Amino acid sequence: MTIKLTRREWIAGSTAASSLLLSGAAASAQTFLTPNVNPTAENPIRAHFNENVYGHSLKARKAMEDALDDSHKYAFGVFFELMQLMAKLEDIPREYVTLGAGSTEFLEKAAVFNRIEGGAIIAPDPTYGDIIRFAGSLGSKLIRVPVAEDMSIDLKDIRAAVTDEVKLIYLCNPNNPIPTVIEKNALKEFITEMSDRGITVLIDEAYYEYVDNPDFESMVSMVRENKNVIVTRTASKIHAFAGVRIGVCYAHPDFVKKSFGLFSNTLNYTAMRGAIASYQDDEYQAFLIGKNKECLEIVYKMCDDLGLDCIKSNANFTFFNAGRPANEVAAKMKEHHILLGREFKPFTNWVRISMTKPEEMQHIADIYKKEFG
Ligand SMILES: Cc1ncc(COP(=O)(O)O)c(C=O)c1O
Repeated sequence: MTIKLTRREWIAGSTAASSLLLSGAAASAQTFLTPNVNPTAENPIRAHFNENVYGHSLKARKAMEDALDDSHKYAFGVFFELMQLMAKLEDIPREYVTLGAGSTEFLEKAAVFNRIEGGAIIAPDPTYGDIIRFAGSLGSKLIRVPVAEDMSIDLKDIRAAVTDEVKLIYLCNPNNPIPTVIEKNALKEFITEMSDRGITVLIDEAYYEYVDNPDFESMVSMVRENKNVIVTRTASKIHAFAGVRIGVCYAHPDFVKKSFGLFSNTLNYTAMRGAIASYQDDEYQAFLIGKNKECLEIVYKMCDDLGLDCIKSNANFTFFNAGRPANEVAAKMKEHHILLGREFKPFTNWVRISMTKPEEMQHIADIYKKEFG
């Protein structure tokens, strides 16, 4: 029998497994601590979208439930409250912060502004695809720069690709689907140089909470000194807001104003109330970072045992060389109700695998070894 933990069965504010009570309620893989080691077609293990399958912090969940009582009202005050919190957490004035319905909102706004200016966009290849797809549909010119031999983003290659037409450079740091990071000092130098040339550098830090690497530094601090840098963050990952939708953008006040003017009031009161609670729940975030590390160790061991190359991750997913087409691997694992990432060209034999819960990752590793070991 599988069991589900309902919110009320949590001890509010605590995230430690020992403080939890179990109920005999219906099964769901995507809730809190119960691992889904008997997945079904309707309830698969979701190792394909880099989500947080534990769900929300209990404090966030409570805040969202309470918020429903006030959600008939326009939410301008809460917008400023959340913005203020985001500014405080990064020690930056509020004028440098804005919020969206996910960070996608800012990737797409940046692409719109770039299109209006008639600029070309540089993006590494492979990288997170939203801005590329969106800019492509707007008819913008795209310049793709392959990742280096070690599969990291090489700023020398990006610099070499800059032409007079380029007005926007998209850098996902850590990158996705290959969770490498860009060395912090080289990145700062690059941002300063490009910003001085009037080229906007957009740093997508969707996974920054998971990074444990001295080479990495968030570029939010660069926003104050450089007019043409935008840093995007999301509550979709560690905060489990993928379906709730909150994104944060740090940028020069000119971009913030312009961005707000393009479409404003897109935010949801309930989501903002949840985010205010979640971003202050350090204990929950520490719990998830710990679980993520446990999961990664299981995948590293699987790869070691099978002699497969694997990227040392800086995120809640990693990328390994299966030595056979990723789509073939994904199809076989789907027969076991395990969902893995899609194929990413040109690394068609590499598989992106998202971290879920340690017990689920062990189940995935066991099945993978049985099928492909
Ligand atoms: C690098 C990166 N940026 C942005 C997003 C989208 O984030 P959001 O849900 O905030 O729109 C994702 C989602 O997977 C991502 O991997």
